[in-house]
Amino acid sequence: MKRIIIYYSLSGNTEEAVKLIAELLGIETLKIDTVKEMPKSFAAQLLIGGGQVAFNKIPKLKPIDKDLSIYDEIFIGTPIWNSKGVPAINALLKDETVSKKVTGLIITSGGGEIDKCVKALKDRIPNVKYQVSLLDRKHQDYQQNEGKIKKFVEEVNN
Ligand SMILES: Cc1cc2nc3c(=O)[nH]c(=O)nc-3n(C[C@H](O)[C@H](O)[C@H](O)COP(=O)(O)O)c2cc1C
Repeated sequence: MKRIIIYYSLSGNTEEAVKLIAELLGIETLKIDTVKEMPKSFAAQLLIGGGQVAFNKIPKLKPIDKDLSIYDEIFIGTPIWNSKGVPAINALLKDETVSKKVTGLIITSGGGEIDKCVKALKDRIPNVKYQVSLLDRKHQDYQQNEGKIKKFVEEVNN
């Protein structure tokens, strides 16, 4: 079974979790980004990124330099923006050859409320079997991520 984690991360939280999970599972990762980069200030990110989510705007992705057809399963790593997944991941999931292979979902958020995000993504990724909800570094329960990651990895390995 050949797997890869494809992820988007603006401020490193999702990247940190994805790297750890990939190391524990012994699988590859691929970071994606949009052609038009997000602004540096959080307020501008909320305005532009949050706006893209609210208006379902699908941005252009930077070219992906990997042949994704060689993977049997794809895990997605995404932060929550505006209660939903990020525009870059929405752009990726437009490709059905990718979305059909998605079996794992790694979500990071500032507050831990992921139901709306999962609901918004689930139509496009009907084959999800594994899911983990993690908190960003600033959250007081951030330390719980380690245990959740362990459990997620055990589930995948079983
Ligand atoms: C534009 C924007 C919108 C966000 N909206 C939410 C939200 O609706 N709910 C939430 O819990 N966290 C929200 N967050 C916080 C991120 O989900 C959280 O910090 C996440 O771990 C960031 O991942 P990253 O560091 O990999 O980019 C938002 C962050 C940004 C930048």
